[in-house]
Formats: sequence, C-alpha cells, structure tokens
Amino acid sequence: MGLFSNIFNRKTELGKKSSTSSFVNPIQVEFHSHLIYGVDDGCEVIDQSIAILKKFADLGMRKVITTPHVMSDFYKNSQANIYPLRDEIRKRLSEENIQIEFDAAAEYMVDEGFEKKIEEGNLLTFGKDNKHVLIELPFMTEPPNLNAVLFKLQIAGYTPILAHPERYMYYGNEREKFHELKDRGILLQLNILSCLGYYSKPVADVAAYLVNNKLIDLVGSDVHHIRHMQILPDALEHKIYRKVCELELLNNYL
Ligand SMILES: [Fe+2]
Repeated sequence: MGLFSNIFNRKTELGKKSSTSSFVNPIQVEFHSHLIYGVDDGCEVIDQSIAILKKFADLGMRKVITTPHVMSDFYKNSQANIYPLRDEIRKRLSEENIQIEFDAAAEYMVDEGFEKKIEEGNLLTFGKDNKHVLIELPFMTEPPNLNAVLFKLQIAGYTPILAHPERYMYYGNEREKFHELKDRGILLQLNILSCLGYYSKPVADVAAYLVNNKLIDLVGSDVHHIRHMQILPDALEHKIYRKVCELELLNNYL
C-alpha cells in the first residue's frame, strides 16, 4: 500500500506543470481506456465518462479512442452496444463544449472465442488504416492459442498491439519473449501508470526494461475510473515516462 497510498493521497492538480520542469507531454492521442459506461469494469455512468474526458482535455489530449474489454465470457461487447453509447458521450461532450475528439474501439482478450471473431472479420479497430487492434492476455498464464491468434490477425491484415506487456507475470522472467514479439511485428503498448509502480515494483522494473531497450511503440493510460486520472499527472512527471516519450511513439499518428 505504501507507494500507492502516498501517490493516491496527493490529489495532484490536473494539468498543472511541475514548477521545476519545462516538460510538455508530446502525446496528444490516448487510445487505451474504459470510458464506455456500463459495459465493462470501467466507467459505470455517463457522468464519470464525461468527467474523465474533461480531464484528458485539460491535460492537452486532442483525441481519445476508448477501448472497452471484449471477452468471450464476461464482456460480450461489440459495435452493436458500443457505438450508441459512444454517440451519447459525443453528444454530451458537444453540449458541455468539451473540446476533444472521441471514438471507440476495443481491447480484445486472447481467449478461445477470439479466433472466431477474427474469422468473422468485424473487429473494432483504429488507426488511419483502421487495421490496428488492441489485444490483452490473461495475467497469470500465456494463452495456448497466442501464436495462432497472432498469425490469424496478421494474415487478415491487422496490426496487433499488445496492451501492457509489462503486466504479464510470465514474461517478467522471460524477457526474450518481448524481443520475439517485436520481431514478429507485434506492437507493444506501455501503461503510463506502470512507470510509477502503480501495479507493483516488478511491473515497474519490466516497464523500465522495455523503455530502456526501446521496445515500446505506444503508450496508453488504461484509465478505468477517476482515481486513475487523479494519479496520471504524477506518472507523466516520471523519468521513465519522459524517457519513453523520446522513442518514436505512434500515438499521435493513429
Ligand atoms: Fe485495458
């Protein structure tokens, strides 16, 4: 609890620059969050979605592409339920004159049902080519069909982005896996809060490894609720975050 509670209780003022630094966050496109209300473990009501988006706008973000979980068992989300809620949020943003572009894609769990979704071909994607797809893995064990899924995605013309590779315990002690994934053309997305040690010290260590070895292609907040937004400014001040910003990140081009 120590580090987390200290960070959590600081209640940093959003959008405020450090008095000792002239760092300006170069990232203007945020593409990993859970802001479609009531569909996963993120925002529960529209007011929460709007409050978070207002804070992203205050932080200087130009665009937010939110990514609700899609899982075969828990979260059976698709275009059919996500797009109408996205449109409701857009309407509120406009009514409240909050200047931020807002869109929705998804964060797909690599589970037994995902291969079928790839075959059906109507994945929620993003990027100028509309072919980038965000995927996540179980935290404790690598899924047995990972290779098959990556192959299927790439054959179908998608560019897979692996969400928060630093959080998978089984890769922490097998870091050559990160290099293998990169060699196969998989993009890696770092969670900004990992820099702070928000999830754990081992996760922060792997995050530093990934950044120091220039393995990161994109950064994302993975914001689920307002408490994440309250500590995000601290993460933006962290030296690992600053270092990742020196890499050629793809965020602003999506
Ligand atoms: Fe996520």
